[in-house]
Amino acid sequence: MRDQRAAPARAEGSGDATTAADRQSGDTTDDDVARAATAVVDDRPQAVSGFDYVDGELHAEDVPLAAVAGEFGTPCYVYSQALLTSAYRTYDAAFDGIPHLVCYAMKANPTLAILDLFARLGSGFDIVSGGELARVIAAGGDCRKVVFSGVGKSDAEMEAALAAGILCFNVESASELEHLAAVAARTGLRAPISFRVNPDVDPLTHPYIATGLKDSKFGVALDDAHALYRRAAQMPSIVVRGIDMHIGSQITELAPYREAASRMLALVDALAAEGIALDHVDLGGGLGIRYRDEVPVTLAAYATMVRGLFEGRRERLLFEPGRRLVGDAGVLLTRVRVVKAGASRNFAVVDAAMNDLLRPSLYDAWHAIDPVRPREGDAARHFDVVGPICESGDFLALDRKLAIAEDDLLAIRTAGAYAMAMSSNYNARPRACEVLVDGASVHLIRRRETIAELHAHEIRLPTQPR
Ligand code: LLP
Repeated sequence: MRDQRAAPARAEGSGDATTAADRQSGDTTDDDVARAATAVVDDRPQAVSGFDYVDGELHAEDVPLAAVAGEFGTPCYVYSQALLTSAYRTYDAAFDGIPHLVCYAMKANPTLAILDLFARLGSGFDIVSGGELARVIAAGGDCRKVVFSGVGKSDAEMEAALAAGILCFNVESASELEHLAAVAARTGLRAPISFRVNPDVDPLTHPYIATGLKDSKFGVALDDAHALYRRAAQMPSIVVRGIDMHIGSQITELAPYREAASRMLALVDALAAEGIALDHVDLGGGLGIRYRDEVPVTLAAYATMVRGLFEGRRERLLFEPGRRLVGDAGVLLTRVRVVKAGASRNFAVVDAAMNDLLRPSLYDAWHAIDPVRPREGDAARHFDVVGPICESGDFLALDRKLAIAEDDLLAIRTAGAYAMAMSSNYNARPRACEVLVDGASVHLIRRRETIAELHAHEIRLPTQPR
């Protein structure tokens, strides 16, 4: 039997949960509660197990994580196919009965096998570059279900997306509209567009991932959008399709969505009144998950709000979830290399680092860390869990109470989103491998980079004549 750990009691409606809880904190008294909390996703059906302890050992579905580390080495990202599948199905099913399309925001985790899985489940994709479009195609995704966001699309990216026949360009400026119209005219195609409007709503999240405030670089001001739609409607190489918003990420409140969507719908109605009827309304992504003790909005509550706003309307709904579909479904598996007592702190130096998982260094993000085989009875001490990179900012967790020794395996939780996707080769470190577990089957979906591959694109100086 699995140890399905129970959800702790939670304070409902704690308004500052999002920003505070995703930060590092020296307060470790809550650690056990927080670790238990990360194992629970509100919407996940009880039957779906992803990462649970079986006989004192952490498993990915039916596979012991120690076996994965033994076969593929560490650091290694491990994903649960059951959790990925269930997250997608839950999101999609929340809007059963109303015309809608879920477009997975693949920036959260663009590995081909993950895209392949979502494509098979019927997902569309939200992309932000020509590289991401190429990934959709390589993974067998349907380009007719692709929306293309981003503030700086190049002509070449526009051309590729037009040729692929995507569903919609989410246009983010007046200038982009002119560029796109010109590219479409040149290629003899018509570009389907929506404007990404900036509703100037505070999503109450980390400032780096708030995107819908008026001083943000994203989207067009709601006040300017009306005139832009009029202009677009006149352009022969442009087809006006919809409207779009994305107000931020790791949002744990419903109110900002309601406010932003209401402002957007007022514009949709004003446009319709003058004959510019939109086919779809894209509400973006942004729904948060629990890293520590945040209280994520349930999909049921989100869907109820959306259904309320859209009752009696004719537009198809689009969504662009990223983190919500993949965040809970991955762990970063790492091994303790050195245990080191500093003057005032203990360090556990592990073989993963900020190049593998940047979120703690970049956003002060908090990820739970669990030993793969907990040492029963050993005294826990406070550790900074750090990587081997030559930066003091290279940490994965600060001041965590852990009972660990050298060579132990640790699982860094909630590492399915913006984790491998944001990895780098800093300090000439090959990027980690990725493994997808499906029941008792283990699939290597990205092998570890080799040192030779890190040099492959570089060109030394010409040989000097002697
Ligand atoms: N749509 C657009 C246009 C976006 O820019 C994003 C994310 C999404 C959808 C998906 O948002 P999600 O559902 O995942 O919240 N690296 C940061 C998150 C950056 C989000 C960027 N945009 C992190 O690690 O928290």
